[in-house]
Amino acid sequence: MSRPQPDDHGASASLPYGRQEIDETDIAAVEAVLGSGWLTTGPAVARFEAAVARFTGAARAVAVNSGTAALHVAAAALGLGPGDEAVTSPLTFAATANCVVYCGAVPVFADVLPESLLLDPAAAERAITPRTKAIIAVDYAGQPCDWDALRRLADRHGLALVADACHALGGRYKGRDVGRLADVTALSFHPVKHITTGEGGMALTDDPDLDRRMRALRNHGIDQDFRQREQAGSWRYAMTMLGFNYRLSDMACALGESQLARLPGWLETRRELAGLYDRLLAGTPARPLETAADREHARHLYVVRVPRRDAVFRAMRAQGIGVNVHYLPVHLHPYYRERFGLGPGLCPVAEAAAEEILTLPLFPAMTPDDVRRVADALARALASRD
Ligand SMILES: Cc1ncc(COP(=O)(O)O)c(C=O)c1O
Repeated sequence: MSRPQPDDHGASASLPYGRQEIDETDIAAVEAVLGSGWLTTGPAVARFEAAVARFTGAARAVAVNSGTAALHVAAAALGLGPGDEAVTSPLTFAATANCVVYCGAVPVFADVLPESLLLDPAAAERAITPRTKAIIAVDYAGQPCDWDALRRLADRHGLALVADACHALGGRYKGRDVGRLADVTALSFHPVKHITTGEGGMALTDDPDLDRRMRALRNHGIDQDFRQREQAGSWRYAMTMLGFNYRLSDMACALGESQLARLPGWLETRRELAGLYDRLLAGTPARPLETAADREHARHLYVVRVPRRDAVFRAMRAQGIGVNVHYLPVHLHPYYRERFGLGPGLCPVAEAAAEEILTLPLFPAMTPDDVRRVADALARALASRD
């Protein structure tokens, strides 16, 4: 049985652009932890980490309390610091670039490909300087980037590769799972994402050294957590680097593990609903983004390009459809303009796309009739002269 789902995205719209699914098994999993004696750093954390590692094929997984924290521990563990640069995409949530700034380094924005809005490897190459230490690419909307091209680039220039896969859990590139395509992969478990822990995230890696550093960074830079000290019968611990409190609670991890069991079905539903949108919108002025033949799209967001986007946005919201825009390019936010002297003209493909993109509702509880309702509303919005 599904409990009533609050509408926390898309403001007052009756159909939000994304929404979590919570059922009785999720509630029972969280309740069991509440009575277990461990609310944080307990066994549910390791269980959730192991479950996500199994699902993605990553060797190691570090649970943290947001996708932003996952990106931050990744950048910090890779040693990004003052004097360094990281090349990244402008068409993303600000957190992708913010994690670089948290480390005292400088994000350098490289343009995206027009058909997919994924980081353009040729543009990324042009943005590399002697100060570049990492490439942080975003699997925008749920489609994996061209990771082979990015890997070749990273290897040629001796750079680390980070995947912001906050949209892409369950995606595949050339048959390989998201989670193993970069040196570190960041996931988010915010309620609009594929699975949720309320707030939460995870950093995945195959590298034991990065794993050890990220694990310490989530816990103040301390080498052992409370439970490990309890098990060792010792109060002693050493803080070996400056870390943070990015721990994810056992309640959150129990919810995440319970949600993960339903992820394969949710991915299938997302893909079916996206396929229906593709068919209904074919031949209309709304142009969906393209998916490369060698990718399995995780379908976090269904993004179309439309003419007169802001008028269409208003007309959709007026019809109770919680459309959204992902994203204003990061270099156009006031903070980035002022702090780094950035502005329009830096990434023309992303800037032009940002004037046209519209995210349509997509989440597993939607029905094919909901998709038809959105497509009808979009046809009316596109035909209106407002
Ligand atoms: C592409 C991208 N990166 C990073 C994040 C940050 O994740 P969180 O909200 O869990 O901190 C998000 C979440 O909105 C995102 O969409």
